[in-house]
Amino acid sequence: MIIAIDGPAGSGKGTITKIIADRLGIVNIDTGAMYRCIALAFLRSNLSIEDKEGIIALTKKIKIKFGENGKVFLDDEEVSGLIRTKEISTVVSPISSIVEVREQMVKSQRKLAEGCSIIMEGRDITTVVFPNADYKFYLDATLEERARRRFKQNQEAGIEMSYEEVLESIRKRDYNDMHKEVGSLTRTEDQIYIDSTNLTIEEVAQEILKHIKER
Ligand code: DC
Repeated sequence: MIIAIDGPAGSGKGTITKIIADRLGIVNIDTGAMYRCIALAFLRSNLSIEDKEGIIALTKKIKIKFGENGKVFLDDEEVSGLIRTKEISTVVSPISSIVEVREQMVKSQRKLAEGCSIIMEGRDITTVVFPNADYKFYLDATLEERARRRFKQNQEAGIEMSYEEVLESIRKRDYNDMHKEVGSLTRTEDQIYIDSTNLTIEEVAQEILKHIKER
């Protein structure tokens, strides 16, 4: 079984997929974390953001792995916290716009689903990675609500950013995510659309589980 979830930054995909994966006992893959790992490797290199070829070569060289409880490893180093900084969020968008980087990630993502049931979240999972997934969801919320959630998450993680800064950063990321040459965040007829603006996490999880149980 493959469950694919797409949606913009701060729509709650990460939290929800973890819950669904736990309840169904299936593997959970956060594809944003994969792009964030490339961004971390990039920040640690001497490459410039204009050096596409260099970034493509770097993508091919690094190894990204997932461990228990959603832990993320870059070349065997646990980087789960390191990939959530402000610096990473700034460079991850242009990096994830490089077509060859995406091709490489899509290949890895399909491999991760071989032989197991999986729930995968990102921006192009329902459209490019698994267009034939068993279940396809688009999780949404208003820009303001998403900024409010991300601001709260940042505060809890000790990341210092004002609400206005968070709002602007998400607005920019929305634009970039929706205007990529390949793999842009898109709404399609065959996704189940869920607006989580006025829903609790549990209500969203129940809504998704309801669709899964119905079939
Ligand atoms: O979900 P996130 O905010 O952690 O994702 C980080 C960035 O990676 C986001 O700005 C868009 C990009 N991304 C992507 O292009 N395709 C995906 N499948 C997942 C994330």
